[in-house]
Amino acid sequence: MKATLLALSLAAAAGAALPCAAAKEDLLRERIPGVFARAEAQASHLIDAMAGDTKRLPRSWTRGKLFCEDPTGWTTGFFPGTLWFLHAYTGKPEWKAAAEEWTVRLDSARHYTKNHDMGFMFFCSYGNGIKYGGHGDDYKAVIFDAAAALATRWNEKLQLIRSWDWPPFMQFPVIIDSMMNLEMLEWVSKNGGDKNYDRISRLHADKLDRTQFRPDDSVYHVTDWNPRTGKIWARYAWQGACVNGAWARGQAWSVYGFTMMFRETGEKRYLERAKKSADWILCAPNLPDDKIPYWDYYAHDIPAAPRDASAAAIMASALLELSGYVDEPAASRYRERAVDMLLALSSDAYLAADGECGGFLLKHSVGNYPEDTEIDASINYADYYFLEALLRFLGK
Ligand code: GLY
Repeated sequence: MKATLLALSLAAAAGAALPCAAAKEDLLRERIPGVFARAEAQASHLIDAMAGDTKRLPRSWTRGKLFCEDPTGWTTGFFPGTLWFLHAYTGKPEWKAAAEEWTVRLDSARHYTKNHDMGFMFFCSYGNGIKYGGHGDDYKAVIFDAAAALATRWNEKLQLIRSWDWPPFMQFPVIIDSMMNLEMLEWVSKNGGDKNYDRISRLHADKLDRTQFRPDDSVYHVTDWNPRTGKIWARYAWQGACVNGAWARGQAWSVYGFTMMFRETGEKRYLERAKKSADWILCAPNLPDDKIPYWDYYAHDIPAAPRDASAAAIMASALLELSGYVDEPAASRYRERAVDMLLALSSDAYLAADGECGGFLLKHSVGNYPEDTEIDASINYADYYFLEALLRFLGK
């Protein structure tokens, strides 16, 4: 941080053109109509590419190939959510019709209990249909079922929601991404559903706040718990580089998840954790000039390591929200970093050209580097959080 400030002062003293925060915001505002026009074109290409497939949903474009998921896949909510964002921005009825058509593809998964991703899946799709599409009880009933399915994974002794079922390799794994599924539980609790969901969301978030972080405030991806002893059994880097590395998307899920929990509960401890995660990211090691992180901040082959545009998109969306909850100077720092990332993502370096990347919007994301899947790929959640961030920037 000190080095960055020094570099900025030196550049300013040398007369280098450093766009001020307001000028950067103006530039981003000018670019947004073009980005949404591109997003509309790309979504149309993707829908055309999936003609004849009435069941699955698009997930990524990897090494020139389209990958799709069945409705129980964890990323299935993002493409319907992207379509809801297109409707929210353009107001066009055809995007509402498309969003509805792709949202209801998830219906058959509404009782799925074999993973914890129901919040990602159902709140990004049906949730946005309520927020932007005027839907009510029809979509609410599906979200209530999805929340009930997620709640079956609660363990009262551990006070945690189990993320994955991978016995015997892991006993009771909990991942930082799990914070993202709590928004749906909070919403159901506030909208006539089971009040216990608010209790378990808070307890889950509290336990992660206490146990998922390193002393420097970076976050582990996976903590595996022993349900018999109630103690931590193991830590795993999993999608990160090494157990003491810092997986870029994990850091982003943390800022987003704890910011959201502060919004939903008003509890200052969640705001404090969100700020710590955000501050870690703002001063993170090995951050390239355009502020789009490598897939892990400690990837072994930096600067050749692939970037993760999805992590940047999630962080940008989260930092824009967080900037509204904190005092100066943190508010301006968070907002400016979000704008910097959105400017990079909306440039030709990251934005797919018309018809490129199989109809996805952003290039250069990483799904799972250690498993060698979706490396330097276009992935649906990068597009989703990028458009969400732009809507947040516009106050929509
Ligand atoms: N939730 C899994 C991931 O972020 O890749």
